[in-house]
Amino acid sequence: MTRIIGLSGSLRRGSYNTALLRAAQELHPQHLRIASIADIPLYDADVESKGMPAAVQSLKQQIASADGLLLVSPEYNSSLPGVLKNAVDWLSRPSGEIRNVFRDKPVAVIGASPGGFGTLSAQAAWLPVFRGLGARFWSGGRLVVSGAHNVFGQQGHLADADIRERLAAFLEGFVEFCAD
Ligand SMILES: Cc1cc2nc3c(=O)[nH]c(=O)nc-3n(C[C@H](O)[C@H](O)[C@H](O)COP(=O)(O)O)c2cc1C
Repeated sequence: MTRIIGLSGSLRRGSYNTALLRAAQELHPQHLRIASIADIPLYDADVESKGMPAAVQSLKQQIASADGLLLVSPEYNSSLPGVLKNAVDWLSRPSGEIRNVFRDKPVAVIGASPGGFGTLSAQAAWLPVFRGLGARFWSGGRLVVSGAHNVFGQQGHLADADIRERLAAFLEGFVEFCAD
């Protein structure tokens, strides 16, 4: 069974990106497991030198043993969000273990924004990060959710049938890619 770890790059309770990840998980409960970056501290080499924080170690293990990684990334100032980049930075430490966590790991990025471009710039900004980590970035599909405030209902459920269909198609392609 193909197992994918999903991470939202927003800590906000009412996050559209976390809502999008939950919708993905509802579509593929057998393949997608949601993990969290909420307990990952700010990267500090002095902290690292005293030992890897438990939250980082746990997330590293979950990703290392998964067949793929799905990031659901907000866009901040036309680029990737610091909290999610901070988590990926921790996950890339120590550098000698990058191969266990990221090398040849299928990775895909989707995202939601109230704006008109739906995290297009953030998704592009992730490319050099995963290229540097040696991951297998999946570019077989694209999902940018714009106007997110009109796409999710009050309780954060995905209320837009067209987006649900596009999310399902994206996930189908990515799951297949991870299974290779
Ligand atoms: C510091 C900051 C910068 C932002 N920059 C952008 C941006 O460049 N493009 C965009 O579409 N939205 C931008 N936004 C709006 C976010 O897309 C919006 O807050 C979104 O709801 C964040 O994702 P979340 O709902 O998952 O928390 C920005 C928000 C913040 C707080």
